Amino acid sequence: MRPSEISLPIQWSDDWNLGIEEIDKQHRSLIEHFNDMKRRQQSGADSFNGDLLFMQNYIKTHFQTEERYMKEIGFPELESHVNEHNFLRDRVSEMAIRYSRGLDSSEKMIETIQRWIVNHILHSDMKLKDQLTNNESIAG
Ligand SMILES: [Fe+2]
Ligand SMILES: [Fe+2]
Repeated sequence: MRPSEISLPIQWSDDWNLGIEEIDKQHRSLIEHFNDMKRRQQSGADSFNGDLLFMQNYIKTHFQTEERYMKEIGFPELESHVNEHNFLRDRVSEMAIRYSRGLDSSEKMIETIQRWIVNHILHSDMKLKDQLTNNESIAG
């Protein structure tokens, strides 16, 4: 994602589908929630604390869904993926603390979260799709 695109909402693309309905649905909804949060932040609404809390809970549930699925299919990169999830979850929790103490701006945090969401889905989660394609070609 180029820096000029950062101030825009995230535009979902069907190329981002992994072919796993539950996870794809959560990704789309994660992006919708993120875009709503960003819209409110840009319009100057006083909603960032609550939005960040919602985001924390949403990613927690989403990461659990993904990890459960990865275990089920014997995803070989489970451990590094879980580490990445833990890292992201911890950073979002830290953000909430930093924001409540006035140490960082909501604008800066929004841009960071946006970069993380896009990078994680496009680079890390996409490996699940490759794994499924591999499994199918072995089975077929
Ligand atoms: Fe994901
Ligand atoms: Fe993930």
